[in-house]
Amino acid sequence: MSLENSYPRVTVAEAGRHNGETVEIAGWLYNLRRGGKICFPQLRDGTGIIQCVAVKSALPEDLFESLKNLTQESSLMIRGKIREESRAPGGYELDVEGADILQRVPEETPYPITPKDHGIDFLMDHRHLWLRSRRQNAAIRVRHEVIKGIRDYFDSHGFVLVDTPIFTPAACEGTSTLFEVDYFEDEKVYLTQSGQLYNEATSAAFGKTYCFGPTFRAEKSKTRRHLTEFWMVEPEMSYANLEDVKRVGEELVTFVVGRVSEHRREELKVLERDVTKLESIQAPFHRMSYDEAVVKLQAKGSEIVWGGDFGNTDETLLTEGLDRPVMVDRYPTAVKAFYFQPADDRPEVALGVDFIAPEGYGEIIGGGQRIHSLELLKQRLQEHNLPEEAFNWYLDLRRYGSVPHAGFGMGVERFVAWMCGLEHIRETIAFPRMLYRTRP
Ligand code: 4AD
Ligand code: MG
Repeated sequence: MSLENSYPRVTVAEAGRHNGETVEIAGWLYNLRRGGKICFPQLRDGTGIIQCVAVKSALPEDLFESLKNLTQESSLMIRGKIREESRAPGGYELDVEGADILQRVPEETPYPITPKDHGIDFLMDHRHLWLRSRRQNAAIRVRHEVIKGIRDYFDSHGFVLVDTPIFTPAACEGTSTLFEVDYFEDEKVYLTQSGQLYNEATSAAFGKTYCFGPTFRAEKSKTRRHLTEFWMVEPEMSYANLEDVKRVGEELVTFVVGRVSEHRREELKVLERDVTKLESIQAPFHRMSYDEAVVKLQAKGSEIVWGGDFGNTDETLLTEGLDRPVMVDRYPTAVKAFYFQPADDRPEVALGVDFIAPEGYGEIIGGGQRIHSLELLKQRLQEHNLPEEAFNWYLDLRRYGSVPHAGFGMGVERFVAWMCGLEHIRETIAFPRMLYRTRP
């Protein structure tokens, strides 16, 4: 079938700019209401949904009958005049003058996702189709905005994008969450947990860099905050310390939140997100030390003792009643990764910081200052049972012009879940990978 004709093709989102004009919109049948002499096919094209009005007397008989009996998600191109209609959801309707049906979904195999309620497993099994629904469309568009915002922030603040490898020979974030891959004969590599170690090399080459890509964690935890494959943006800065991480992280978060609440109003409405919650995300964020956080948690009834890591419930308790993120710094060195610089005055705490988002969204940023002393770094590798030869290149960075440097990682999906007000991280990425889910 030819896709060419003399009508200008517009999207639903653009329809308002073509009021009174005769155009063509190409999409899929979202819904259909019908009477004897009139029917209302709702057309979905990915940019929005528009109600069309097909009147029997104005159309060839077979076309009217085909439209009237069309099945959900059939593909079609509809031509007609755009008309302002204040009662319509998008503010416009289309009066049908003609249409081409590309594929009619057969009655025997109807579109599986109907307006009735489906269980989450059913929807996840049909994720390839579920993405067509309004809420999923809105969440993925917010994700796009978040990613764009992140890139714009770093690109306009002197950071160079340097992509880091996904096959890696060494662990960055502990050996318990590594995915091992057979890499030709005799060689094992891992899927990257973080681009940080490579960022440390690139930041010494470029000053300030960031990487942005998929990262992998064999997390056995089945929580609403964990994926096994997630996207992380990781900036790294030479001649920088823990305070720089807090400053840049705070700026980045407020910038991206601003972008989303400014540019994605419609989507947030579809998601029924309370936008005032996003508008109150302003600098300065709350700041507290790990020590203070432990005291606060104990007062709230948590069983945490000094030296332990925070659980999901602890993170939620910490931001209870707060309208913006809290930055918790100086965690016990023992619970943190091998590369953290210990505090000069108190080596039992590490110069690391976590940003914990309000409303129970948990840790969205983790980072801090890296060890710059060759001797200390070698010692840490030993303490963590990490093979020195796999890190030899990394140690070189401490042999040739070592400087204090710092950076962080922000998980895109956690950030998007927070922006959208989603209960579970699985709806923030098109095809989520989780403990019990690798399909579709
Ligand atoms: O705190 P993490 O483990 O830090 C690092 O990987 C550092 N190497 C980053 C750096 O300094 N360059 O992870 C950083 C962020 C977390 O704050 C969280 O937002 C996200 O990555 N994250 C996850 N998101 C989804 N699913 C998971 N399993 C995640 N694990 C971490
Ligand atoms: Mg962390």
